[in-house]
Amino acid sequence: MSAAKPIITDWRQFDTIHTITAVVPADSSIAVVWSDGRTSPYERYWLRDNCPCGECYLALTREQAFEIVDAPETLAVASAARDAEGHLEVSWSDGHRSRYEAGWLRANAYDEASRAERRLANPKPVLWGAARAQELPTFEYEAVMRDDHVLLRWLITARDVGLTLIKEVPTQAQSLLAVAQRISHIRETNFGRVFDVASKPNPDSTAYTSFNLPPHTDLPTRELQPGLQFLHCLINDAVGGESIFVDGFAIAEALASESPDDFSTLTRTPMEFWNRDNRTDYRWSAPLISVDAEARLSEIRFANFLRGPIDAAADEMPAIYRALRRFQRMSREPRFRVERRLAPGDMWVFDNRRVLHARRAFDPMSGQRHLQGVYVDRDELRSRIRVLERLLKNP
Ligand code: OGA
Ligand code: ZN
Ligand code: ZN
Repeated sequence: MSAAKPIITDWRQFDTIHTITAVVPADSSIAVVWSDGRTSPYERYWLRDNCPCGECYLALTREQAFEIVDAPETLAVASAARDAEGHLEVSWSDGHRSRYEAGWLRANAYDEASRAERRLANPKPVLWGAARAQELPTFEYEAVMRDDHVLLRWLITARDVGLTLIKEVPTQAQSLLAVAQRISHIRETNFGRVFDVASKPNPDSTAYTSFNLPPHTDLPTRELQPGLQFLHCLINDAVGGESIFVDGFAIAEALASESPDDFSTLTRTPMEFWNRDNRTDYRWSAPLISVDAEARLSEIRFANFLRGPIDAAADEMPAIYRALRRFQRMSREPRFRVERRLAPGDMWVFDNRRVLHARRAFDPMSGQRHLQGVYVDRDELRSRIRVLERLLKNP
């Protein structure tokens, strides 16, 4: 074989704990045997599709240029072997040659054991309720701002637990921006880049009154609800106004086991939500509980004060109201509730597509109350976590 073509490497680095001990080629696939005894099959099109050579990948962007439809129908493995560096080297029937890093190959193996391992390593929501209220994950502003390791721990907690508290944030207006920008850019909305939560003379949302705000997610009126919500307390001298949080995934999971029909109804019934004033008219319809393609909980969408009339078949209405009433009743149950009073400098950061937040009514005559908020999408959070993991693991 002539000199191997260079590999266009991924941005990530892959561990090479397991090395290739044998390569068993067949016409339409290759089996790789690993040093721990695992055997991974790789199908011809899968391998050809992932060829990381400089013809198949653009070195400039590290993105794929080759389209698998351009591989011949008759594509076959001409030869395959482990090369001197321990990588897999393949020659194809059409003359193309590919080389795959062992670490990459192992990380992307799709034998059953490897797939099960990956599923296990996927981040999973850590459910919580009143019983864990005392362990509320708390971080210090200074440490989050200064130390990337603390930043990463905070972001992983925000991702997996979905509720965090940051203490000692300066109480100057807009101070929350610097913390949000430790992640990435802001998700701006019609309520502003930074929104002010205070009792206002001409409110365009119940949030901007002193009334009770029942458990809700913000902006269920949008196709994509904001991912993270920051709520930073600048002043809290009013009587009342305590914050309440419930883990929507914990409720959904309890509902699925205690009342599966109601759970199923809430995953199937679109509910309509509206934000409207004299300048804007936002609406979106989607089920209260969403699950992904693998039946894992992915999203909760609910704000009673933004909800429109339910549009469903007449014979389904009784079941829909039974399910909705049950969900709301559960969101009031003490077992799910965490209640805290915000002090100036405290900042909640929580997953707005999972955690419902609420505020008790407050007496605006008893003192001032002023919070500021911003949103940052889940994509930004996850991207930042991956980049920090990349940097801190391979400095
Ligand atoms: C909101 C909100 C909470 C509070 O503005 O959407 O939930 O404590 N505010 O005022
Ligand atoms: Zn190639
Ligand atoms: Zn809110």
